[in-house]
Amino acid sequence: MKVIHATSYSDLSRKAANIISAQVILKPHSVLGLATGSTPIGTYKQIIEWYNKGDIDFSSTITVNLDEYVGLAPTNEQSYRYFMNENLFRHINIPLENTHVPSGLAEDMEAECVNYDALITNLGGIDLQLLGIGHNGHIGFNEPNNAFEKTTHIVSLGESTIQANARFFDDIKEVPNKAITMGIKSIMQAKKILLIANGPDKKDIIEKALYGPVTPSVPASILQLHPDLTVICCFE
Ligand code: PGA
Repeated sequence: MKVIHATSYSDLSRKAANIISAQVILKPHSVLGLATGSTPIGTYKQIIEWYNKGDIDFSSTITVNLDEYVGLAPTNEQSYRYFMNENLFRHINIPLENTHVPSGLAEDMEAECVNYDALITNLGGIDLQLLGIGHNGHIGFNEPNNAFEKTTHIVSLGESTIQANARFFDDIKEVPNKAITMGIKSIMQAKKILLIANGPDKKDIIEKALYGPVTPSVPASILQLHPDLTVICCFE
């Protein structure tokens, strides 16, 4: 595990963008596992800036996102598909058909879970997975639990997650209470993992996750067991 302390949010964002860019430069057809939330926005902005300078070509890159709210259409501004299109995909030359976000609207959500894992396997697995971390230690929407859920699955969101995400909605009642998320095994099978955490409010959970016991009550703690984990944090 490598832990890098960034001096500011923009330093964190540039460092994370450097690692993702290097991955795509070294292997243009990389499978990138991507994340939503406020933390990666600066990383995506930096990538777009370097793309505009001609430094990176995404024409053969493939992406798989971690999660999506159940019940939100891709056109819904709060959906993670919408977030990814607006914050990254439409600003770079990645073919939209190369980008994958689990569907929150599938008629058969159980089948969608199975199909999403099959998709990742058929792509040859994830080369680099970007992750944020929730205050409760969640990664993707893998909430604190009694056991690590391995494969893509449907989760009921915890109260603290609903409250944390309410800032993006007009009313907390509009926050969906279910999501589809890659499981711990899907995440842990990524060849490399890049975890980013920003702000003084993330300090405690990062310490618990990286240096505390490995337990499903802190889902991110499993990352201690990953052979190629880089953490970039800024607690300023
Ligand atoms: P944040 O969310 O980047 O908005 O803090 C991280 C997460 O909940 O995974």
